[in-house]
Formats: sequence, structure tokens, C-alpha cells
Amino acid sequence: MAALNDDANTDGVVLLLPLPAHIRQRIVTDDLRPEKDVDGLGSRNAGNLLLGFPSFIPSTADAMLAVLRDADLSVAGSNAVVVGRSNIGGKPVALVLLRQDATITICHSYTQDLASITRSADILVVSTGRPGSITADMVKPGAIVLDAGINTVNGKVVGDIDFAGVKEVASFLTPVPGGLGPLTHLMLIRHTLLGPQ
Ligand SMILES: NC(=O)c1ccc[n+]([C@@H]2O[C@H](COP(=O)([O-])OP(=O)(O)OC[C@H]3O[C@@H](n4cnc5c(N)ncnc54)[C@H](OP(=O)(O)O)[C@@H]3O)[C@@H](O)[C@H]2O)c1
Repeated sequence: MAALNDDANTDGVVLLLPLPAHIRQRIVTDDLRPEKDVDGLGSRNAGNLLLGFPSFIPSTADAMLAVLRDADLSVAGSNAVVVGRSNIGGKPVALVLLRQDATITICHSYTQDLASITRSADILVVSTGRPGSITADMVKPGAIVLDAGINTVNGKVVGDIDFAGVKEVASFLTPVPGGLGPLTHLMLIRHTLLGPQ
């Protein structure tokens, strides 16, 4: 990491997760200089995002913002429910939506009666790593649904949402594959070129 930190020709470093079990992610991400931490995984960038200061936003969260912006979908004042609270998925998504003036609820594996909460969402974001976590009956008609999941089931890549069912209910739904995944890669390039936002 020291070599990459000091290399004037390296503008950004992306850590491919998960790391092998014997390497502590926190130590590696915090060894990386914040200005090269283009996926925003280190404490400095995560802290700045929490505090509302310029930071590198984790690329999946930034991809979601880009989707909402490009589709001209309004966020301010909406009820946003985020299912999943990982440091790379749910937490940063919740913070960027809060920054855009949504009212946020974060759900996780201990959440009671998940469906009653997800049905209140104008914007529903799902990052559980569990295919089929969200079915049509858990979605408010007309909701905007963003699926961060990337899972392989019987050799096919699928998201965390039951796509076939939910597309009949949602007004906007990101597909998997071909949805947030490719955009996430673009965000990493964008961050490397433009710096923190
Ligand atoms: N689009 C992209 O570029 C991108 C980037 C990163 C990850 N991903 C994908 O996104 C998915 C999630 O990744 P991750 O790293 O966030 O996963 P993770 O670290 O395993 O976290 C999963 C989260 O979902 C919660 N959860 C699991 N099952 C649940 C359930 N039935 N009801 C409610 N909450 C539940 C967990 O709750 P607890 O905290 O209580 O355990 C946890 O907070 C994966 O499919 C991954 O491949 C995509």
C-alpha cells in the first residue's frame, strides 16, 4: 500500500472485496491515503460522508444517486427504506439519500415485520445478498426500487429482488444484471478523474 500511496502515477486504488480471511479490511482501507480511496471505504471518507463534508462516496451508493438523477426521480421528502446495513452497501446509500433530503429507514436481519416497512417506501433500496429478499407483496405500488444485489443462482446472475414479480408493482426498477453493477464501475472511474464530491 505504501508504494501505491507514494506513486505519483496512481490516482486511485480500489480494493476488491472480500479480502482473504487473514487480512483485516479496516487496516488495509485505513492504510490507503483518503485522496486515493476512490471507493470511499476508509474511515476518513466514511466519516466525511456521515458529517456531510466532501468525500468519496462508495461507488454503489453513488451509482444509485446517478440513476435517480438521470431518470429525474425526486428524492427530497420521499420515504426511503434501505434493506441492508453493510458499510459498502446499505449504510452509505442511506447517508446519500439523507443528504438528498429523503426520510430514511434502515432495515436488517433483526428488523421485525420487514414487509410492513418496505411497503411504506417511495424509494426502496435492497442490498441483502439474498436472492428473493423482496417480493411483489412487499412493495408499494408505484415505488422506485433499486436492487444492489449480485448473486449467482443455478449459473444465472440475479439480484436480491424477485424481479419478475416486483416489476409488475414498481414504477421504476433496476435490473440485474445490467443495472447498478456496470454503473458502479463507471463511478469508480468518475471518482478517479474528478475527486471527492
Ligand atoms: N452493485 C454493486 O456494485 C455491488 C457492490 C457491493 C455489493 N453488491 C451486492 O450487494 C449485495 C449485498 O452486499 P453487501 O456487501 O451489502 O452484503 P452483506 O455485507 O452480507 O450485508 C447484507 C445486509 O443485509 C442484511 N440482511 C440479510 N438478509 C436480510 C433479510 N432477510 N432481511 C433484512 N435484512 C437482511 C444483513 O443484516 P445484518 O446486518 O443484521 O446481518 C446485512 O446488513 C450482494 O449481493 C453483493 O454482491 C453489489
